[in-house]
Parts: sequence; structure tokens; C-alpha cells
Amino acid sequence: MKKVDRKILLNPGPATTSDTVKNAMVVEDICPREADFGSLIESIKNDLVKIVHGEEDYLATLFTASGTGGLEAAITSAVPVGKKLLVVENGAYGTRMVKLAETFGIEVVRYELKYGDYPDVKVIEKLLADDEDISHLAVVHHETTTGMLNPIQEICDLAHKYDTEVIVDCMSSYAGIPIDIRKWKAEYIISSSNKCIQGMAGLVFVIFRASLLPKLQGQKRSFYFNIYNQYVGFEKTGQMQFTPPVQVCYALRQAIDEYFIEGEQGRWTRYKENWDILVNGLQELGLTFLLPYEQQSKILLAIVEPKQAGYDFDQMHDYLYERGFTIYPGKGAKAATFRLSVLGDLYAEDIRAFLNELKNYFNTIS
Ligand SMILES: Cc1ncc(COP(=O)(O)O)c(C=O)c1O
Repeated sequence: MKKVDRKILLNPGPATTSDTVKNAMVVEDICPREADFGSLIESIKNDLVKIVHGEEDYLATLFTASGTGGLEAAITSAVPVGKKLLVVENGAYGTRMVKLAETFGIEVVRYELKYGDYPDVKVIEKLLADDEDISHLAVVHHETTTGMLNPIQEICDLAHKYDTEVIVDCMSSYAGIPIDIRKWKAEYIISSSNKCIQGMAGLVFVIFRASLLPKLQGQKRSFYFNIYNQYVGFEKTGQMQFTPPVQVCYALRQAIDEYFIEGEQGRWTRYKENWDILVNGLQELGLTFLLPYEQQSKILLAIVEPKQAGYDFDQMHDYLYERGFTIYPGKGAKAATFRLSVLGDLYAEDIRAFLNELKNYFNTIS
């Protein structure tokens, strides 16, 4: 097994991966039209659904793309011509879905909040009640802009009361925070291979309610990101329609195996423990956070930029990067922040080592 230097990525994906996931990409060359490769994809799709307990009623389809490609597939495949999409927009990823829908001429009803404000379900209810043309609601589960966990169960329940289908961006929560899609009853959830599932970047997946297939058949907005064509194409031929990132698929297979070994609760516990160590250590350094405790995802923290003289995010980044730790800037939150995430193949000793270097950085400027 090839060993490479271990880097601690505290950006919210692409994540730190295990050596076994990295090495899973070193495989014999294979044409992705071979049956062996088709079996690999089939097993991946089935397990992706299993991770959110959707075996009874849900299906998965894969696209070669970053996460946004999956959002594009869900939004352009789901919303019928002439209908509207309600977007809960309390972070940059909510705004991304607005822009995405508008690019395709889909009319959007925006529930705009400051990045870091908690959505009020009463406002969502009013928006749904006031506009019968809203057929779909899109919301981010874990808003990676701020580290906020949005109230998906309540939002799904409300949307369904108004016969509205729900598209949940689970990019940075899927396989980290336990999700039971049978409870949410969301129609579509989307995530990518390079976040909490701890694989490599290059694949995105949409998990959708099986009974929607006939409805999806007529949707023709996108050629490449078309859920119906992609799903049915694979069912008919055992092959993906377009060239998959072959080695990334092997890495995802390995990452899924490692997920099941660690277990849903095991992974969540490890992330929460890492997060607790991080929070405590940052507090000891006198840092404060954008969000109140109860709104936090326990996966990513938006930290208010310190006022300390001599503090400079870029210098702090470079200091830490040279020592093997990658940190992440803020993204338009209501206060100036930088971000740290514990998603990935990270352990308590990694977080402690990071805190130690961060302390050293602050000592250099004080
Ligand atoms: C909540 C959320 N949505 C969507 C994305 C998709 O981004 P990308 O297309 O760069 O993978 C991300 C990536 O960080 C994300 O965190």
C-alpha cells in the first residue's frame, strides 16, 4: 500500500481520506462498459440508499460531477414547467440553488434570510399557503456557510401538508449526521462522494422516491443532468450513460465499506467528539462562534474573526498549511468568520495537534 503524507483538512470537503480509500483507486484498468464495473455501480447505488434507510421506497442515481451537478439534476428534473420552486435561503448554498433554478428559467420564491439566521417555519407556511404554484421546496440540511442545521423534519412536514415536494441538499451532512429518509419523507436528497462519506471528489448522487419515476420521464430541461434518463439508462444497460470517473468509483466503494464498518452511530460519535474537542480548545483560546450551540451541526464551526491586533486570516492559513493543517475562510455570513470542519477521516489526536499549532500561531502575533 502506498503511503502518502497525512494532511489534516479542516475545510468542509474534499475531506481527509483514509490510506485504504486512497489506495482503492490503484486498480487494474477496466472499461466502464464491462459487466464487472456495472456490478460495482449497482452495489454503490444500493448502499447509498441504505445509508439513509430508504431501501423500501427510494432509488439512487449517480452523476459525474461535483455536488452542484446533483442539485442541478434534482432541480431541473423535478420542477415542472410553469411551476415554482420555494428556496429557503439562509446561506450561500441556498443562494446557489436560487441562481441555479433561475438559470433554467424556473420561477423562484425566495425565503431570504441573513446567512446565519434560523428559518421560521411560520414564514415558510405562509409562503406555501399563499402560492398554489409552488410545487417544490429546496433547502440545505447542513448549511456549510455557517454550520447551521436547518429544521428539515418540520419543513418536510409542512411542505407535504401543502402537497409540495422537497429537495434537500445533504451535501455536508449525508453519512455524517444520521438521516432517516423514511421519517423526513423528502422526495430528493443530494450528496457527493467527497464529504462525510469520505471518498474522493468526482461523483454526486441523487436519492429520490421511486414512485416519482413516471413523473420524471417527461422532464427535458437538461440532457446530462437528467435523473430519469440516467437512472433508467443504467437499469436497461447496466452501464452509466456517460464516462464515469472509474477510479473514484472504486474509492467510493471502499469508503462505503468503511462507513458500514464504523457504523452510523460510530461515525456520528467520532465527528461529535472531534467537534467537542475543537469547540473547547477554541474557547480556551478566547474565540467565539457565529451560532448558538443548539443550531450547530456539530460538523462545521463558523468562528468569529478575532479582533486581536496582528490577526490576519491569510497569514494564519499559511502558517497552519505549512504545518499540515488546512483551514477555510468565511463565506458571507452575517458576521466576519472563518470556518473549521471535522468531517473526514479525522481523530481526536488530529484535532488536538491542530489546536496546538493554532495556539502557536496566536503566540506569534501576541
Ligand atoms: C451545502 C453544500 N451544497 C452544495 C455544495 C456543492 O459544491 P460543489 O459543487 O463545489 O461540490 C457544497 C460544497 O461544499 C455544500 O457544502
